[in-house]
Amino acid sequence: MNVLQVSAEIFPLLKTGGLADVAGALPQALNAAGCEVRVLLPGFAPILADLQGAKLLTTLHAPWGEMVALRQGRLTSLGLQAYVIDVPTLYHRAGSPYADEQGQPFTDNDRRFALLGWVAARLTAGLDSAWQPRVVHSHDWHAALAGAYLAYLPPQRQRVASVYTVHNLAYQGLFAPRHFFELGLPASAFAVDGLEFHGQLSFMKAGLYYADHITTVSPTYAREIQTPEQGCGLDGLLRTRAADLSGILNGVDEAVWDPAHDAALAARYDARNPEGKKQCKAELQRLLGLSVAADAPLFGVVSRLTEQKGLHLVLGVIDELIARGGQLVVLGAGDAALQTAFAERAKAHPASVSVRIGYDEPYAHQIFGATDVTLVPSRFEPCGLTQMYGLKYGSLPLVHRVGGLADTVMDCSLENLAEGSANGFVFSEFDVPSLSRAVARAFALYDQPAQWRKVRARAMRQRLDWSQAASQYLALYQRLCH
Ligand code: ADP
Ligand code: GLC
Repeated sequence: MNVLQVSAEIFPLLKTGGLADVAGALPQALNAAGCEVRVLLPGFAPILADLQGAKLLTTLHAPWGEMVALRQGRLTSLGLQAYVIDVPTLYHRAGSPYADEQGQPFTDNDRRFALLGWVAARLTAGLDSAWQPRVVHSHDWHAALAGAYLAYLPPQRQRVASVYTVHNLAYQGLFAPRHFFELGLPASAFAVDGLEFHGQLSFMKAGLYYADHITTVSPTYAREIQTPEQGCGLDGLLRTRAADLSGILNGVDEAVWDPAHDAALAARYDARNPEGKKQCKAELQRLLGLSVAADAPLFGVVSRLTEQKGLHLVLGVIDELIARGGQLVVLGAGDAALQTAFAERAKAHPASVSVRIGYDEPYAHQIFGATDVTLVPSRFEPCGLTQMYGLKYGSLPLVHRVGGLADTVMDCSLENLAEGSANGFVFSEFDVPSLSRAVARAFALYDQPAQWRKVRARAMRQRLDWSQAASQYLALYQRLCH
């Protein structure tokens, strides 16, 4: 089955968060399950540079008149066939993929990302005579207009199914209404039954309204977003679409995240031979100037520093964590106030707390390799990948019971320990006392080394690869194409 996957990011070429990890891993897993996946991406410099033997498939005029070149070739680093939208004036800019160096979103983001949906729809209508998708699978608001453009194409010989995956409902792609009229959609689409949202143009709403099927990245998040508390104003629409909404849990790309073969680590290890993990911990402690103490539980955070991630709660337990003899290592970037607050704590406790502000892929691997506990206290979390990386690397996740965190982590309660299902620590109330109790449970388990090793080995052996998700997506595609 031919599937076109559409996303703004793809690991290892362009990544700001988990979306890229998924966009890089899912096509490979789907190909292994028997699909033929091609990806459609914006022409950011690292993506174009990776495109081998690229040919110019065609040039087109965007709805607002700009010339758009569409290239087709093979992404060397992923071994995937790709279509890349090459418009240097739109994609070659300083800053992040979405915002300038001051963090201000680019004012033409509607055009920059509408092209993803617009080209996807044209590919279903024969733009490439050699390949047409049966399914267009678009990810997050950047690619969300695909369903809308598909809905207004002239009738096709073969019906093409559209799937829209919400990785994070909080990022919606909202624009002033005047932008709507440059996108080439019929005026009737700017309506409550369409992509209008409180007078604005909403890419997210377009995805939710027009797609044949909506998925989110965990079953719990699929339920949560249908409530006013977590629905970001779209819960009403999501409830009307409940029959076409499901949660499929992300996986871990084991070609990238596996302590047995991870070149970034000081030593390799696995569940059967975890010795190397000790070396990873000692090496990181030494490198960071922390006390080199094998018996000090080392907690880690690898995260965007944003409101979503609940990291102010971590600030609230640092003193307790140090008083109990623990250590903390943080890698993250984002919110200036959080950056400063963490950096100050590191300055005050250099032997126990280390903070690096920035984005560093190999260092993230080293943290999972070295730490005993991975902290993910998110306010909300559609899926979350770092708790799963924690599991794979034997760094037991300590998480807030929401979204994908609730679906992947089982608390070390006495009954879960007895049943053999425990793999981490879970707290329910989003406040410091509740997190603090979970931290206390982590210390209590750490004080029983044999029990700790048992739970850790189980966590590391858990099946987290992409094959289960791939078969669920494939079953969905097949159902929609019938
Ligand atoms: P989100 O997509 O909401 O940021 P996820 O847990 O799904 O959360 O994915 C985050 C991804 O980004 C993981 O691969 C994580 O290792 C990575 N990551 C986050 N912050 C950093 C950082 N500062 N440096 C390196 N990798 C990071
Ligand atoms: C989003 C979510 C995160 C999820 C990731 C990949 O960035 O915040 O929870 O893991 O997408 O699906």
